[in-house]
Amino acid sequence: MNRIDWAVGVIAPQPSDHLLEVGCGHGIAVTKVCDRLDEGGIVAIDRSAVMIAAAARRNAEHVAAGRATLRVAELRSFDLGGRRLDKAFAMRVGVFTRGDPAREFAALAQLLKPEGRLFLFHDEPSTGADDVGARLAAAALRHRWLVEALSAQIFDSGEVACLIARPPA
Ligand SMILES: C[S@@+](CC[C@H](N)C(=O)[O-])C[C@H]1O[C@@H](n2cnc3c(N)ncnc32)[C@H](O)[C@@H]1O
Repeated sequence: MNRIDWAVGVIAPQPSDHLLEVGCGHGIAVTKVCDRLDEGGIVAIDRSAVMIAAAARRNAEHVAAGRATLRVAELRSFDLGGRRLDKAFAMRVGVFTRGDPAREFAALAQLLKPEGRLFLFHDEPSTGADDVGARLAAAALRHRWLVEALSAQIFDSGEVACLIARPPA
């Protein structure tokens, strides 16, 4: 199993779920999530127009079917006009382990339902998952998110940390 298959298994999208992916890159996870959706949908954003174009090519069928919506956007200023989602996730999006992601966590709190879940997956070439996970958890806690689980998985490519958190009450 590769890291993206594992992550999608952890997120466990339900057929009616509405999800957000932050930093979708080539849109590989978008495809795997859409394969599990029925009446649900995914909004995927990336600040790179080149990446969104690549994700749109890969997911043309899902976009045409209305299951996937792809947008060039920076998380900190992204909103859905008050619409709220069941789950949000990000993989290898460095802002959650570096600097102060205050505006990113604030945006996510507006985008998720109160009972929604945030999944952050991150790995770094020369850093163990314990350290990466500790930084993810520290950032979430600093912004008053409720950390529900912290886990790690080892792949040939390295160790991946996973944080699951709920929005501030
Ligand atoms: C290292 S790539 C990871 C791509 C994919 N998620 C994966 O795991 O293979 C990080 C992606 O996140 C995007 N990104 C980074 N920070 C972002 C932000 N604050 N808002 C939106 N996209 C962001 C980058 O443009 C890039 O495409």
